[in-house]
Amino acid sequence: MKRFVVCLLFLLALLTTDTLADDLIRLPIFKHPTAHISKREDEIPLYNTDAREYLIEIGLGTPVQKFNFTLDISSPGLWVSSSQCPSTDCLYSRFAEKNSSSLRQTNSTFSVPYGNGSAKGFIGYDTVTLGNLTSTNHTIGLANTTSGQSITSSSTRVSGVLGLGIPGISGDPTELSFTEQLSFNEVIGKAMFSIYFNRQDKHGATGQIVFGGFDYGKYKGPIYSLQVLDYNKQGQPNVGKTYTNITGDKIYKYWTLPGQSVVTYASNGTKIHETEFVDVAPAILDSATTLSYLPQKDVVAILETITKDYVPIQQNGGPIQAYQVNCTAFTKQKMYLDFQLSEAPNAPSGSPAIIRVPLRELALPQNGDDLYTATTCIFGLAPISKEFLTPSGTGWILGQTVLRSVYTMYDIYYREVIIIEAKNNYDIPIPSLSNTNSASYKHYYAVLVSVSLIMMGSSSIL
Ligand SMILES: *[C@@H]1O[C@H](CO)[C@@H](O)[C@H](O)[C@H]1NC(C)=O
Ligand SMILES: *[C@@H]1O[C@H](CO)[C@@H](O)[C@H](O)[C@H]1NC(C)=O
Ligand SMILES: *[C@@H]1O[C@H](CO)[C@@H](O)[C@H](O)[C@H]1NC(C)=O
Ligand SMILES: *[C@@H]1O[C@H](CO)[C@@H](O)[C@H](O)[C@H]1NC(C)=O
Ligand SMILES: *[C@@H]1O[C@H](CO)[C@@H](O)[C@H](O)[C@H]1NC(C)=O
Ligand SMILES: *[C@@H]1O[C@H](CO)[C@@H](O)[C@H](O)[C@H]1NC(C)=O
Ligand SMILES: *[C@@H]1O[C@H](CO)[C@@H](O)[C@H](O)[C@H]1NC(C)=O
Ligand SMILES: *[C@@H]1O[C@H](CO)[C@@H](O)[C@H](O)[C@H]1NC(C)=O
Ligand SMILES: *[C@@H]1O[C@H](CO)[C@@H](O)[C@H](O)[C@H]1NC(C)=O
Ligand SMILES: *[C@@H]1O[C@H](CO)[C@@H](O)[C@H](O)[C@H]1NC(C)=O
Repeated sequence: MKRFVVCLLFLLALLTTDTLADDLIRLPIFKHPTAHISKREDEIPLYNTDAREYLIEIGLGTPVQKFNFTLDISSPGLWVSSSQCPSTDCLYSRFAEKNSSSLRQTNSTFSVPYGNGSAKGFIGYDTVTLGNLTSTNHTIGLANTTSGQSITSSSTRVSGVLGLGIPGISGDPTELSFTEQLSFNEVIGKAMFSIYFNRQDKHGATGQIVFGGFDYGKYKGPIYSLQVLDYNKQGQPNVGKTYTNITGDKIYKYWTLPGQSVVTYASNGTKIHETEFVDVAPAILDSATTLSYLPQKDVVAILETITKDYVPIQQNGGPIQAYQVNCTAFTKQKMYLDFQLSEAPNAPSGSPAIIRVPLRELALPQNGDDLYTATTCIFGLAPISKEFLTPSGTGWILGQTVLRSVYTMYDIYYREVIIIEAKNNYDIPIPSLSNTNSASYKHYYAVLVSVSLIMMGSSSIL
């Protein structure tokens, strides 16, 4: 129970300081069509799927040179294509280092891995411009080479990646992450950011990222606060039955939360399926991945609650990469799925956090933008590859198909993710809290009341 009290105080502190202060940056996120499904491990180089990535425009140097970056909460730091990068690797506009009077270059190197590719180069320090605000002497990677399809093929007019992970770009644990540098430079108050993606069918600059606070106009329903999972030195998530409560410095790799189960509801609200529970799963939140990934048997079991009419997609007898479905199955019924996340890293919870996803967010049209006119779709959930499975066979990656339905606040200082249902105007019930835990119920609603009180007083600020 203590955690909820802490969370309440934390939110109140935010509301009374950050949302009322000027030190908060709100920027639009663009949705950008690409011809590929972006995936963390590799790319699915196929079909004419109008998958999208989320872009953000950021200025670098003095005078300011503007670039679009892929928003990736799972990778470290900000890197840009440098003028040293051959145009075969860095296809679009590159940073003209010589033109920036504020740039300080170094001989320190960085290398950010993406699936089977990477971006490599040298670290520099320069002024970063976000909206009207500037952060000086900010660490940036100046990439002289990129490899792997996931960068080049999905990066139409994209000049780099804004990584908002917990570690910094050099991999040095003492280095500040992108968000921490904004806070260190007093550009924002708290080292946190919040993301709203909007619905799949909203194109253009409709998403939003807020640095230093959050936008209370973008969510509704109960507020859940979850601790981020740490990783051991071998890179394995510390989760489930083998969880050990480490004292001292923990290693953080991704925004990973404890995944509990996925529950499917019929249009009338009847629970029709719940994934069979083996152990708490490490669930990586990944804004740069198009689909979401679960163990194959769970994907199939969930899909069969929706439709029996599907075709596995695989290449040359390799593993199944995705499922092709008839879009009609996803538009004619108002089912919804709950992705439940445990409050504890080591065991399922009686009152899990819920990300509720309407069925219409779980089909990506293959021909055209419109789910209602497209003939074939890709199912929003796909089998996870072995490298992301724990020894007990669990593992999730929650990509855009799930994250679009949730308003998330990423708190670097407290290593916490706050999850609330995004206001997307879908006609499905708002998640309710489990009645079995009345104490946390009260606390959650205490938080909500505080939010709405502040809303009235300061609606002009956000
Ligand atoms: C970034 O992308 C948006 C949307 O496509 C576009 O309007 C804008 O001009 C781009 N900015 C840069 C610097 O290329
Ligand atoms: C850099 O400066 C040169 C010379 O002033 C100019 O021609 C060029 O367009 C500038 N490049 C960029 C990307 O600003
Ligand atoms: C990088 O190393 C080269 C060669 O060792 C040296 O000439 C150069 O001054 C160094 N640059 C910086 C910024 O330290
Ligand atoms: C690119 O950067 C790496 C460091 O990440 C360095 O080892 C390599 O020599 C650089 N290549 C070129 C062509 O400058
Ligand atoms: C930038 O400043 C202008 C006026 O000074 C203000 O209207 C606008 O909201 C600011 N934009 C951001 C992103 O802070
Ligand atoms: C810029 O930041 C780096 C690393 O954080 C630091 O070593 C350097 O002294 C800073 N430079 C200035 C001019 O503040
Ligand atoms: C990435 O993997 C694909 C096959 O999965 C391979 O064809 C490609 O060469 C790899 N790219 C790199 C940079 O290793
Ligand atoms: C881990 O240990 C800390 C400090 O002793 C305690 O507050 C926390 O509840 C423990 N977490 C779990 C999951 O047991
Ligand atoms: C709700 O829908 C499910 C599945 O379509 C059906 O089996 C069940 O009978 C319905 N329940 C009610 C109360 O209508
Ligand atoms: C999709 O389903 C609808 C109705 O269930 C049917 O009319 C249509 O032919 C199906 N499309 C494909 C490509 O199978």
